[in-house]
Amino acid sequence: MDAPTQALYGDQQELISQYVDILASRGIEWGLLGPREADRLWDRHILNSVALNELVSQGVSVADIGSGAGLPGLPLAILRPDLEVTLIEPLLRRSTFLSGVVDELGLGDRVRVVRSRAEEHKGRYDVVTSRALAPLGRLLTWSEPLRAPAGQILALKGSSAQDEIDANVQQLRTRRLVAEVLTARAHPAAEPATIVRISRAH
Ligand SMILES: C[S@@+](CC[C@H](N)C(=O)[O-])C[C@H]1O[C@@H](n2cnc3c(N)ncnc32)[C@H](O)[C@@H]1O
Repeated sequence: MDAPTQALYGDQQELISQYVDILASRGIEWGLLGPREADRLWDRHILNSVALNELVSQGVSVADIGSGAGLPGLPLAILRPDLEVTLIEPLLRRSTFLSGVVDELGLGDRVRVVRSRAEEHKGRYDVVTSRALAPLGRLLTWSEPLRAPAGQILALKGSSAQDEIDANVQQLRTRRLVAEVLTARAHPAAEPATIVRISRAH
């Protein structure tokens, strides 16, 4: 962990290091991450995930859809003990991995794992996150029913973010939503992440 990341995680440094160690060992052994990811867990996975940090208000509920090995939900939950986080993941192997991590890190009082497809899950959350989940149209269909009326959808996306918004203008309008592309960094020395933020149109 480099110095800016140590400063960012403060008292939670040990917990995030434990999670990274689990990703580098069991995460790769179980096939949740490719073997080449071992050397880039911090930059490509942890810091990319917590680029969402400043967009998430204090004390809110977060649902992370298609969490996989826990990204972005777990790095965010570890950084932010004020959040209640639900990790939604349909695949047995992945949800078993997630439940194990939550137990081992002692996060069970505010992080829960739900084995479900997003479209079959019932619940409302202040923030609905995702990364590498699906093209924006499908992502919206899955995320919007889980968003609380004044809440927001935060999707970590790649360089196609604006094109995806343009391709879904009609769906956004019909659902009375506005979408914008934001660039954010976990800390000033971190790589920028591209985020699509979707909220209710005023
Ligand atoms: C490419 S992986 C991304 C995992 C993680 N978010 C990441 O960034 O590493 C997509 C994940 O979405 C999950 N998924 C697929 N369809 C889903 C659905 N309908 N509802 C919730 N999750 C779904 C998959 O099981 C998989 O774990």
